[in-house]
Amino acid sequence: MNISIIGGGYVGLVTGVCLATLNHTITIIDIDEAKIDAINNKTPSIYEDGLEQILQMHVGINLTATSAYVSIQTADIIIIAVGTPPNPDGSANLAFITAATDNIGESLATAHTVYPIIVVKSTVPPGTTKDLVCKNIRKKNPLLQFGCCMNPEFLREGRAIEDFIHPDRIIIGSTDQKTIAKITELYKPLGAPIITVDSTAAEMIKYTSNALLATKISFSNEIGNLCKALGVDVYEVMKGVGLDHRISPHFLDAGAGFGGSCFPKDVSAIAAIAKKHGVIPTLLEAVLQVNDLQPLRMIKILSAHLGDLKGTRIAVLGLAFKDNTDDIRESRSIPVIAMLLEGGAHPVLYDPMATENMKHLFPQAEYAPSAVSALTGSDGCLVMTEWSEFATLDAEFNLMKQRIIIDGRHILKIKDAEGICW
Ligand code: UDX
Repeated sequence: MNISIIGGGYVGLVTGVCLATLNHTITIIDIDEAKIDAINNKTPSIYEDGLEQILQMHVGINLTATSAYVSIQTADIIIIAVGTPPNPDGSANLAFITAATDNIGESLATAHTVYPIIVVKSTVPPGTTKDLVCKNIRKKNPLLQFGCCMNPEFLREGRAIEDFIHPDRIIIGSTDQKTIAKITELYKPLGAPIITVDSTAAEMIKYTSNALLATKISFSNEIGNLCKALGVDVYEVMKGVGLDHRISPHFLDAGAGFGGSCFPKDVSAIAAIAKKHGVIPTLLEAVLQVNDLQPLRMIKILSAHLGDLKGTRIAVLGLAFKDNTDDIRESRSIPVIAMLLEGGAHPVLYDPMATENMKHLFPQAEYAPSAVSALTGSDGCLVMTEWSEFATLDAEFNLMKQRIIIDGRHILKIKDAEGICW
């Protein structure tokens, strides 16, 4: 099939390369010339396991990037994968969705494809696909026969290609049989269960999935905070809890909390939508409150050891919001660094991949080229990201003035580290 993808970010680019491996012809449309060049030069502007190799194999063959919308005119499927960043009040900002919809609407006026299908893959508030995307395209093309559906992604950063190729399920949000048939054909090679619902339910499945995953994390953190007060290791507790098939062991890892471009944004967005519809999001807001307080606990535990942090040198190991990525969006390290600076401490920051990104936020801070150099002479250490290279640290902590080590991710193997919830 001829597939155009609007948006060459994490979702659009991963979707494009994975569909290219299924022998479709992919055109990624973006407004950012740098991103377009990076893709066409086979040097992706984002890090994902396996992405560069696939780009090498398909760019110039059956995958290209451009700023022009002309490919829409011969596209069988047009996927909208642009960002929906949070507004100050937490609601989803739909400016990029609206712009993409307008451009698609105008380009379809001269479409040559029999029955083009618009697929909304971005995380959008319930009702957006129907009331904003389809309606606007219909308005611009009253006579054109086209399909419309919502098809959410469930990609984790750093494992996005694996998650695309091996999905737990495919959701097709449409009531149009032709659309359902075409999108079913597209995903059939992946061999995953395909669920068909209406587009609003599909939008809700995406928000609910992320909100429940975030709830599991905040639940584990609240239980973890209690376990610590009781002198119990929450990881021992969750080992016993997670074996219940109704619960599963996944996403019960207590620690410094969740970051990333999705959980904080999506939980805030669905809470804002609830309020707009007169439903009080008590639980969803509590998930965010628990998450906002976890980084403070790292500082409190550190202060319990060191007293006043003023003038202390504190090694912060891990800046990315999780391992295997350079992404610092909503990283739990950010409030920790801010609190250290506010308290007059001197943080020394290290991360295997995310240093350059964090320098945009804290240009004045000291950055270390390695964990060893961050630890040397430091009064304390906070581990904020579950990088596997931290698991083997032990003797390196002897380079500190004293071994005051707070583990926020249950990644250290040493016995004398103190855990945030264990
Ligand atoms: C998440 C969802 O998993 C994915 O399905 C959705 O499409 C996008 O958002 P992502 O944000 O990339 O993916 O990362 P994920 O691996 O889910 O971790 C999110 C955050 O939660 C990270 O900060 C991680 O450290 C934290 N986390 C995860 C925990 O604190 N405890 C856990 O048990 C799991």
